[in-house]
Amino acid sequence: MTVVLVIGAALVFACVMGLLVVVVWRRPAQPLTRRRAAAWVLGGGVLFPAVVLSALLAYAAVRSGPLAGTQRARGDMVVGITAHMWWWEVRYREPASGREVVLANEVRLPVGRAVSFGLSTADVIHSFWVPQLAGKVDMVPGRVHQLRVRADAAGSFRGQCAEYCGEQHARMALQVVAMPPDEFDRWLLAQSQPAQPPTSEPARRGRQVFEQQRCNACHAVRGLFEAGPGQGPDLTHVGSRLALGAGTLPMRHEHLVRWVGNVQAVKPGARMPSFDRLDRESLDALAVFLGELR
Ligand code: CUA
Repeated sequence: MTVVLVIGAALVFACVMGLLVVVVWRRPAQPLTRRRAAAWVLGGGVLFPAVVLSALLAYAAVRSGPLAGTQRARGDMVVGITAHMWWWEVRYREPASGREVVLANEVRLPVGRAVSFGLSTADVIHSFWVPQLAGKVDMVPGRVHQLRVRADAAGSFRGQCAEYCGEQHARMALQVVAMPPDEFDRWLLAQSQPAQPPTSEPARRGRQVFEQQRCNACHAVRGLFEAGPGQGPDLTHVGSRLALGAGTLPMRHEHLVRWVGNVQAVKPGARMPSFDRLDRESLDALAVFLGELR
């Protein structure tokens, strides 16, 4: 679809430039009569854009019709997405157990099934934009916006906040992964399970650090730590995610260390302090614990 729209725009641009060249290089001996001038203005300025833009609009509407819409249909899987400064909270309900699944900055979809997003914001206006799935939808405080999508092929798509929302607007990315339905069902079931208590020695030590530093004042780890007022992303299966900090860093042990120890250098303004008072051994242990939450 993008290709057709780009070609259309390029053709119009080429025509206009062609006419410009003709006008500049081949000045007619006689000035145009008023009637011919009016015909050019009406034809080129009103009629032509009206026809071309209507045709492109109709084309875009027809092509994107079955893909994205705003109406939720019965039987759609519903995914709640809440924008925060500067990350995405994502909620599912696991159909078999009815358990709520909360994660962050990552949305997984079953290929071929329609999914209805309920989009809202916890603070300022953000905009949900996954170009390969649908157009932008603004998230306005106090409202829930519906967006219905269906991924037709497996793949990984990048989403991005598309409305300036403050300092780290640029680092407010979202990963959307469309996967075969049975694989998706297994993933959702795994995400609905509570976290397993750590078994290795460094991970046990990391759990202690997590508790001592009161990480659970903001971050829940279902089964191990309930969160306080719950300001930060749920970390129950954080080790299974693809990225850290809303797409800021790929998920890796050394990035977890850097994130916790020095988040204010990695993503200045993020609503989490740098835990730079922790020594390297404690940070390593904490990162092992988080990495094992899969
Ligand atoms: Cu959220 Cu820009």
